[in-house]
Amino acid sequence: MIRLEGIVKEYYMGDVVVRALDSVDVEIQRGEFVSIMGPSGSGKSTLLNVLGVLDQPSAGAYYLEGVDITQLRDRELAKIRNQHFGFIFQAYNLFPELTALENVMVPLMYAGRPRRERRERAEELLNRVGMGHRLHHLPTQLSGGEQQRVAIARALANNPTLLLADEPTGNLATDQGAEIMGILQELNRQGTTVVIVTHDPAITAYGKRLLRLRDGKIISDGPVNQVAQEA
Ligand SMILES: Nc1ncnc2c1ncn2[C@@H]1O[C@H](COP(=O)(O)OP(=O)(O)OP(=O)(O)O)[C@@H](O)[C@H]1O
Ligand SMILES: [Mg+2]
Repeated sequence: MIRLEGIVKEYYMGDVVVRALDSVDVEIQRGEFVSIMGPSGSGKSTLLNVLGVLDQPSAGAYYLEGVDITQLRDRELAKIRNQHFGFIFQAYNLFPELTALENVMVPLMYAGRPRRERRERAEELLNRVGMGHRLHHLPTQLSGGEQQRVAIARALANNPTLLLADEPTGNLATDQGAEIMGILQELNRQGTTVVIVTHDPAITAYGKRLLRLRDGKIISDGPVNQVAQEA
């Protein structure tokens, strides 16, 4: 589904160049569940943002279903982003003034769905993540785990081929984190491809494949039990 070749991402800080990704090659197949680990500053979020086309690489090629998308314009990239990717962040990033239902309806509005369909679909998605009983709550009226479940429902709104999660359990207590991981695992079983960044070795057990980064380079990549043993 996705192939990155020789991806470099550099940030310019005045005269200083920070190389966040250094010649990264990675392939992601449909249906995979990939965990990304590595020390702080190793480039995990940068890699996730490049994968989700939130960020443009400085060099290298990005093939989406065989097509190199690195040369596309912003407008076309935004369209690809909306059609293919769903994002989940550590800080949930819900719209504070909107209810759970309205938060999930936002991407459906951008996708131009009719009002009635937006509501039905949002409700169905919230039911799917066990939040059907909290449709009209504002984010501040929800627990962290509940907010993250709403964020997952929102990420699923446009039926993404790939769900990208950056430390989705980072702000949660262990049991709430386990619930969130259970939902992601179930979504993966139903066919959604999942890539997750985590600090927590226990989280990688939910996935099948583990990719380790250090200093912007991939230092290992393979089945979870195998790669975890190398560490
Ligand atoms: N916008 C930016 N401008 C300059 N440097 C940046 C920027 N974003 C990231 N970096 C640098 O790129 C490197 C990789 O950052 P990244 O956020 O990908 O790390 P990470 O592995 O996600 O770390 P953490 O575990 O702390 O979230 C770091 O050295 C960071 O300081
Ligand atoms: Mg990060």
